[in-house]
Amino acid sequence: MLILGIETSCDETAAAVVDDNRRIHADVVLSQTKLHVPYGGVVPEIAARAHLEHLDRLVTQALGEAKLGFGDLDAVAATGGPGLIGGVIVGVTMGKSIALAQGIPFLGINHLEGHALSARLSHDLPFPYLLLLVSGGHCQLLIVEGVGRYVRLGTTIDDAAGEAFDKTAKLLGLGYPGGPAIERAAKSGDPLRFPLPRPLKGRPGCDFSFAGLKTAVRQTVEGLGARGGLAPQDIADVAASFQAAVAESLIDRTAHAIAAFTERHPSGRHLVVAGGVAANTLLRQSLETLANAHDLTLIAPPLRLCTDNAAMIAWAGVERFKLNLTDRLDFSPRPRWPLDPTSAGIRAKA
Ligand code: KG4
Ligand code: ZN
Repeated sequence: MLILGIETSCDETAAAVVDDNRRIHADVVLSQTKLHVPYGGVVPEIAARAHLEHLDRLVTQALGEAKLGFGDLDAVAATGGPGLIGGVIVGVTMGKSIALAQGIPFLGINHLEGHALSARLSHDLPFPYLLLLVSGGHCQLLIVEGVGRYVRLGTTIDDAAGEAFDKTAKLLGLGYPGGPAIERAAKSGDPLRFPLPRPLKGRPGCDFSFAGLKTAVRQTVEGLGARGGLAPQDIADVAASFQAAVAESLIDRTAHAIAAFTERHPSGRHLVVAGGVAANTLLRQSLETLANAHDLTLIAPPLRLCTDNAAMIAWAGVERFKLNLTDRLDFSPRPRWPLDPTSAGIRAKA
């Protein structure tokens, strides 16, 4: 079974071909980061136009690398939301067109389901498992019980973790994307110099919040009062203090989620981390320690599968196709699409 995946929900234009033996035949990602750098964040209209400009070439390239033609495909899976709607429409329209022209099924994939199932593409991983999804757009804790069966334990009530990294980096003049820049600066910094808040630490539940931390960072930077810009050591110390605060907050929330997960699934053995922030070494190390303390194994898919990509969309397509969960061609792209509709009441980023 060969499935073409298409991802266009944020600032990566991507196409991939994956089969049901977990083999990735092609995985092409075009990052638009450079286009958005001048604005310090993703500009939706610019993103949509760039997807439109590059997607057909990327699909051709993916098929070329896989040495396949359209006629070899069994189905097409495209991200159908949640995301920046202009980009999602571009990907869905392309996916439907290929499906229609080839007479093969179309699957509209929830981007979060792509992230949630990506660890089953990289690892031989059984259900159920606990997932910490931390990216620029999402910050959630989910129990993954099966394809289409997700229990959301927590989500962010304001910013996503990656967004917090990006905004803090902007405050410190470190540029975009902020996560890698903060991590680099933090290497020579003192994480104890500024006692920043650990958002929601010690509170019940598994939700996240980063807006207060961002304000505390801004006040810290203003308190340093440097007219001609911050000294390099100050930047390093703020970056290290901020990174430590985010990691500690994420660990506290994840610990609560582990309790809920093991209560519901006493035999569950795996904690999975996905999303761009999963690249952060301090976070990975802290999660490893946390997982070990609870007799769980931490699984982190390779970074290429953690950040936005089309292989995870094609793979979610494989998992759904196997269960006959295909979509009709009148499938509507959606800017918001919670994975767990029963917990959609909280103001979520999804
Ligand atoms: O998953 P992703 O590539 O795109 C989406 O947002 O969906 O995640 C990008 C986010 C950005 O906010 C970026 O700053 C953050 O992941 N990030 C990091 C690191 N590398 C990327 N955050 C912390 N530490 C990193 N090393
Ligand atoms: Zn994503």
